[in-house]
Amino acid sequence: MTHDDGFASLHQHALRLRGAGIPSLLQAEPGRVQDLALRVGPLYVNFARQKYDRAALDALLELAAARDVAGGFQRLFRGEQVNLTEGRAALHTALRGDPAGAPVATQAYAAATEVRQRMALLVQSLEASGVTDIVSVGIGGSDLGPRLVADALRPASGARFRVHFVSNVDGAAMQRTLATLDPATTAGILISKTFGTQETLLNGRILHGWLGSSERLFAVSANPERAAQTFAIPAAQVLPMWDWVGGRYSLWSSVGLPIALAIGFENFEKLLAGAAQMDAHALGAPLERNLPVLHALTDIWNRNLLGHATHAVMTYDQRLALLPAYLQQLVMESLGKRVQRDGSPVTCDTVPVWWGGAGTDVQHSFFQALHQGTSVVPADFIGCIRHDDPYQLNHQALLANLLAQTEALANGQGSDDPHRDYPGGRPSTLILLDALTPEALGALIAMYEHAVYVQSVIWNINAFDQFGVELGKQLANQLLPALQGEPVAVDDPVTREILQQLRR
Ligand code: F6P
Repeated sequence: MTHDDGFASLHQHALRLRGAGIPSLLQAEPGRVQDLALRVGPLYVNFARQKYDRAALDALLELAAARDVAGGFQRLFRGEQVNLTEGRAALHTALRGDPAGAPVATQAYAAATEVRQRMALLVQSLEASGVTDIVSVGIGGSDLGPRLVADALRPASGARFRVHFVSNVDGAAMQRTLATLDPATTAGILISKTFGTQETLLNGRILHGWLGSSERLFAVSANPERAAQTFAIPAAQVLPMWDWVGGRYSLWSSVGLPIALAIGFENFEKLLAGAAQMDAHALGAPLERNLPVLHALTDIWNRNLLGHATHAVMTYDQRLALLPAYLQQLVMESLGKRVQRDGSPVTCDTVPVWWGGAGTDVQHSFFQALHQGTSVVPADFIGCIRHDDPYQLNHQALLANLLAQTEALANGQGSDDPHRDYPGGRPSTLILLDALTPEALGALIAMYEHAVYVQSVIWNINAFDQFGVELGKQLANQLLPALQGEPVAVDDPVTREILQQLRR
């Protein structure tokens, strides 16, 4: 979409820069490599290989000012009802601090602190028990965040618990997990904000039956009564969360219980501290030195001005291999919208498809298409400066590959042989963590959360609802009886025919 999308002057910049290569942008702007870099706590981010110049970036910053991004942050942090379709605040920031000091946010922070203390006691009591394994059951935001952080930060050896995650309603997932475990030394955690999610209820039933009682079954929910009732879980074993925390923003709440068990409670608190540092930065830094804002404006540039339909995330750290899956929900469930806050259609494209994988593996799968395919894919490349394994040569090779790929994608290399010609001009942002510490991971995830929010402000859409997922859930509930052999009137001729096939 290019007509009346509110990006008029930016289209002029995009037109002007259409033929510019990334090396020529670097040449034309001495100091660009340093000017387009930013350090926030343990994160260093460099935007110098994006296909904008200073003038275009200034125009993007004007857009952010005109759309009142700073005011948007104030509304978010103060606990205003930014989720207007559901009449809710989105106070994930209050789970890790109280930088705005507004009454609603301060109250939320106090409630979160109290529950976190309960969570600490629960972790303590499990650590003092004979439990060796934890099975965490949840899906979407009740799974992806805890799964990512637990996997990224768990020690290579000597962890107190083995933490297993089951999300899919496919019984094979539960079967394979339980097959390796002993109910006598396993505890279960059922995580569901609503406690109405089909997958979690069905898997919870299996886990409850397998454990034989609720003695070592715990739950996390914004509907604690329902959680306690459904599986007869004692109230002391149910941790609450709140409707002001979106599922995909909830890993910092009691939803993070599996994280605290996997990495220890102190490290969980360090994760929150890292996120809080990013919160203070997002709220306080001027737009032109504000990392989430610059990240969001870069995404807007690539999506709305250069027209790129997808965005990739490459983690040059195996421990972050689950980050792309986590970001898919965070970004695409938040920004996959086609109407503005007042219900009128958007006037520009919104979220591109987010995808990615872990380097160097992905270099040997889809990188061919990134280098020579017809679609340009803007990408974030994420690496860690220090490593925690004893294999230094491998780490050096990992970083050499990260540098090589971003350089090759940006600069390309001409050849008389068209098959061996690399066009270059493929933009990327480089994100370096000092090391994969809880603080750095907390800051990184919070950076993405805020960048998502900034885009929602610029696009004037609600980042905190997800009505798009409801229709499929409703249909699945209607069709389940048909699969159980009950006579169900099915209108759709294709579904009707497939049901016949399945029955045969
Ligand atoms: O898929 C939709 C969704 O509502 C997500 O937003 C959410 O994270 C997930 O389902 C799980 O929901 P719950 O935590 O309520 O089980």
